[in-house]
Amino acid sequence: MLVLGIETSCDETGIAVYDSERGLLADSVYSQVDIHAQFGGVIPELASRDHIRKTLPLIRQVIADAGIAGSDIEGVAYTAGPGLIGALLVGASIGRSLAMGWDVPAIGVHHMEGHLLAPMLEDEPPEFPFVALLVSGGHTQLVRVEGIGRYHVLGESLDDAAGEAFDKVGKMLDLPYPGGPHVAKLAQQGSRGRFRFPRPMTNRPGLDFSFSGLKTFVRNTIVEHSEDGGLDEQTRADIAWAFEDAVVSTLAIKCRRALEHTGLQSLIIAGGVSANQHLREVLEANLRKVNGRLFYAKPSLCTDNGAMIAYAGCQRLLAGQVEDLPITAQPRWNLESLPAIA
Ligand code: KG4
Ligand code: ZN
Repeated sequence: MLVLGIETSCDETGIAVYDSERGLLADSVYSQVDIHAQFGGVIPELASRDHIRKTLPLIRQVIADAGIAGSDIEGVAYTAGPGLIGALLVGASIGRSLAMGWDVPAIGVHHMEGHLLAPMLEDEPPEFPFVALLVSGGHTQLVRVEGIGRYHVLGESLDDAAGEAFDKVGKMLDLPYPGGPHVAKLAQQGSRGRFRFPRPMTNRPGLDFSFSGLKTFVRNTIVEHSEDGGLDEQTRADIAWAFEDAVVSTLAIKCRRALEHTGLQSLIIAGGVSANQHLREVLEANLRKVNGRLFYAKPSLCTDNGAMIAYAGCQRLLAGQVEDLPITAQPRWNLESLPAIA
């Protein structure tokens, strides 16, 4: 089945064509980062307006890149939530309308299910069941995954998401938006061991996370070490490293617990923060010790993209699920409420 995927939940317009027989045929992402960078965060109204400008031209381009015609498309998948409601409605309206015009089924996809299934697009996909660590700008969740739509959330962040903490620390360190990749880059110059930041909620049982206290710890450290001209370059890098290390260690401790708790040996990591190299290295080393296996997608499929939506939608369409005619999008949407597919 040939499926067009449309992702517009936040500040990236992601379009892809996925074929259940041949795999990913074309995939393109237009990032709005330059528009939002000047404000230090995503401005929802500007995001919606830019999706309106970019979505249709990008669909035309991706269909051409895939070497197909629009009339070849057999199903349309669009992100229906969670995300910014105006941005979601752009993708949902265009996706639903194209499907109606082409007379093919359409399906609204849960954004985090898209992330969760992105490693399935790699050459050696994981097999169910597995534990998934979802770490994006809006979510931090540990999920036991039995199959598509068979999700049990084991733990989640009680406050900031991991990516959000990276972005806020990036701002404190005067790095461009979004901070995550910039903090990671700066951390590479940091000296290990100069600072040690707390690993929140790891000394009590449970699989929930909290990153807001860590953020405050970073702020206090910055204030303490700032001279008149701010932080010196090495101290900035040392703080970035200590912060990244604290987040990575915290995530790793909870992942180990989740694997012990479920008795499973496969861990997948997904969402923007799963592109983080330090996180991958630490988890890989930990899993090797217990004969487990780590799975992740290539970096371009970790952050928001249309390919993950096309893939997830394709699985649901193949199982016979379709969206009714009304165009709906949900800014908040519980992952566990999704229907299972056999
Ligand atoms: O999944 P995503 O693209 O969008 C959401 O669904 O939120 O995740 C974006 C988040 C941002 O917070 C960004 O700073 C973070 O992922 N991120 C990273 C890295 N690359 C992206 N965080 C840490 N290290 C990275 N290399
Ligand atoms: Zn995302």
